[in-house]
Amino acid sequence: MIIVALDPPQNVDVEKWIKIRYDELKEYVQGFKIGVPAIIRVGLEGLSKIFKDYSGLLIADLKLADIGDVMALTASIVGDYGFNAVIAHAFVGYSQAVDELSKTCEKKGLKLILVVSMSHRGSEEFIDKHLESFVEIAKRVGSWGLVAPATRPLIIKRVRELIGSEVKILSPGIGVQGAEPGTAICYGADYEIVGRAITHSENVKQNALKIIESQKQRVAKCRG
Ligand code: XMP
Repeated sequence: MIIVALDPPQNVDVEKWIKIRYDELKEYVQGFKIGVPAIIRVGLEGLSKIFKDYSGLLIADLKLADIGDVMALTASIVGDYGFNAVIAHAFVGYSQAVDELSKTCEKKGLKLILVVSMSHRGSEEFIDKHLESFVEIAKRVGSWGLVAPATRPLIIKRVRELIGSEVKILSPGIGVQGAEPGTAICYGADYEIVGRAITHSENVKQNALKIIESQKQRVAKCRG
């Protein structure tokens, strides 16, 4: 289960770069995650045209971290342009923040995904110290999914223990950041988010298929 992170590099025709990757990959992966670089360069109008017929997961990765009203307004806007999921930080807290966002997501039929730990080392400085409280917020608002890092798979295991089996865990860090395909799923994630290892390769489809195969093999092994 793969979600492709589309983060176009500079000096490319961004719309074309995204469209080519979307066309080549859509039938093999479960979703696409669009981050700030693509959203600010293409704009929501342009993105909604590219993805207009897509029925998989289309995640707006703005990593929202604001007061509730503003996060809710932002989520509502991206929902109007065809996104069906949004990523927000849990560290802004429940009251007047994630609670309000979650209500809007529910109203708009958007899947809410909360970051409870990150793949870079700095996550240990502040975020990871509050992992359990962040998972608690996710439970309280009935978040659809959580983000936890493939680079530190024991965190995924812990998050899975805390959250139970219903909530999805999405895990970045495969490929360029160092984790092998399948690692996160073996530790309890549902989806592995893969960006550059697929999107910056010469043959995008071939690379994606290789990663999907390697994920399958590792998962088959760890599940016995
Ligand atoms: P690469 O190219 O490293 O891209 O495969 C990874 C993608 O995932 C995002 N990312 C994260 N998002 N929590 C998140 O919510 C994280 O810990 C995290 N680490 C990486 C990154 O923005 C890119 O799109």
